[in-house]
Amino acid sequence: MGKKIIIDFIGNNKFKYIIGIIFMLCTSYIQTLFPKVLGNTIDILKNNNFNVFSIYKNIFFIIAIALGTFICTYVWRNLVNGSARNLECHLREKLFDHFQKLAPEFYSKRKTGDLIAYAINDISAVRMTFGPATAMAINGIVVCIISIYSMIMAINWKLTLLSLIPIPIVILFMLKIGVIVRIRFKKVQETFAKISDRVQENIYGIRVIKSYVQEEAELENFEALNDEMMKANIDMVKISSFLSPLIELCFTVSFVLNLIIGGNLVLKGSITLGDFVAFNGYLTMIMNPVMSIGKIITVFQRGMASLSRLDDILSTNIEIKDCSNAIFDPIKGDITFNNLNFAYPGSIEKSLKNISLHIPRGHTLGIVGKTGSGKSTLVNLLLKLYTVENDQIFIDENEINKFSLETLRASFGYVPQDNFLFSASIKDNMIFFKNIYSNEEIINAAKNCCVYDSIMNFKDGFNTILGERGVNLSGGQKQRLCIARALIKNPSILILDDSLSAVDTITEAQIIENIKKLRKDKTSIIIAHRISAVKCADEIIVMNDGYIGEMGTHNELLARKGLYYDIYKEQYDEEKKSIS
Ligand SMILES: Nc1ncnc2c1ncn2[C@@H]1O[C@H](COP(=O)(O)OP(=O)(O)OP(=O)(O)O)[C@@H](O)[C@H]1O
Ligand SMILES: [Mg+2]
Repeated sequence: MGKKIIIDFIGNNKFKYIIGIIFMLCTSYIQTLFPKVLGNTIDILKNNNFNVFSIYKNIFFIIAIALGTFICTYVWRNLVNGSARNLECHLREKLFDHFQKLAPEFYSKRKTGDLIAYAINDISAVRMTFGPATAMAINGIVVCIISIYSMIMAINWKLTLLSLIPIPIVILFMLKIGVIVRIRFKKVQETFAKISDRVQENIYGIRVIKSYVQEEAELENFEALNDEMMKANIDMVKISSFLSPLIELCFTVSFVLNLIIGGNLVLKGSITLGDFVAFNGYLTMIMNPVMSIGKIITVFQRGMASLSRLDDILSTNIEIKDCSNAIFDPIKGDITFNNLNFAYPGSIEKSLKNISLHIPRGHTLGIVGKTGSGKSTLVNLLLKLYTVENDQIFIDENEINKFSLETLRASFGYVPQDNFLFSASIKDNMIFFKNIYSNEEIINAAKNCCVYDSIMNFKDGFNTILGERGVNLSGGQKQRLCIARALIKNPSILILDDSLSAVDTITEAQIIENIKKLRKDKTSIIIAHRISAVKCADEIIVMNDGYIGEMGTHNELLARKGLYYDIYKEQYDEEKKSIS
């Protein structure tokens, strides 16, 4: 998947890459002209009555080489490294798009810090591989080939071969070390993910940490992780700092051999001093690419490790896909559950058992029941957050799986139990950054959720910027703002999952009343623990251990004196106690 994205990207940008590589080859070629011109200049200078014009010509060549190298390098770096930056942006976009489509199950198994590491470190490692590192590798190979050829031409193949003996040894060392680098780099990435997870959890949970006076303990935990990261990094430094001196040592042997043999050849007059200087110039030119081999191998290995990590993520199946002839018609709001059974992926125990229920369009369904009885699961399935088997849920008499996912979800106004506010303005949180609502609609939605006055008490009103996850709002204000977000959509089906739990009973009654008035011909599902939130519903179900325990209107259920009555009595008794 990741590889395909990269191949497609390179295919779409092939002209940039081709022109970039042509300019890079030109750079490599022009660079290798320098030792030749230098050697030639020395040979001219050696003659007592040399031709000044030839010297000027060579100086001009040297300046031209420098200028040529400058221009060609500038062009290829812009094209190749620029494309690599574009690739990075493209990959990150694809990854983000994939993150958005992944099912909730995926996020229950992965940690946020780790996912951030994918989006930042791994993608950056891939960029380095498919940009600077590839360019350096091609440049190095070309420089080496031309230099070796020129060395053979300048002196002979025997001395060239002798001077190059250390190179295979160096490469062998690097390949061996490369394996260790790969292992150690993986460790560095893992510790990075752990640290970013820790920092994140600590920032999110700072209030809990402070109230339990856990700062010291958290600091100790963090220090241990930080030490682990330092050790992993030092292990990397140890291995990489070993490489450069080793290569330099090998090349010193080369230069010594070359000085002894080449020097003798000059003394004997078999080669000119200029040729000898050029030969040494080429040997120095080879040194750079060979020294970079280690770096290039490391970058390639990191890039490949990151690409395979990205591949894993990108090939994770995205959530439920639309069927071939999906329905795109807006949903009206008639819901039928037909003997629905459901177990969460990986769980043996069913969370919903034999659920059969019809909610006609325009009805309000109340759902009560003990914690863990399956209330949220039931609405999660309506939104198809999990795969639903065929013929178990029907909407407007169509099988739920026939609807396009987008149409389905667009028809719902859903306030989840663990609602979420973004650190944006109150208005943007309500309209979800969609500028399709008038100010009047926004104000009305806020008023209907009894949160208008609270908003107006803020200095900036609807433009008040919320802290992360809405920290500057009270629990009840947060809940009401989230209801307003769902109400403003005027959805065919409204779902409030325990969304009034932090609101006082008087305000709760007011909100319910407003919702009833507003949504006369539209379906609503209200999940609550308090009877007061559901008592006006057209129908109420009591969930009990995954089953529908009881079903009926408030009065019918009270008369039955079963589960519902017990909950009612308990809450009523408590109220009475608190009054007396
Ligand atoms: N993502 C999940 N993976 C596995 N099991 C889950 C998952 N979410 C919920 N469950 C299990 O499914 C059962 C029903 O959970 P559900 O969230 O529907 O309860 P609930 O009635 O909404 O409870 P509450 O009133 O506390 O919100 C529980 O036993 C719970 O442990
Ligand atoms: Mg729940």
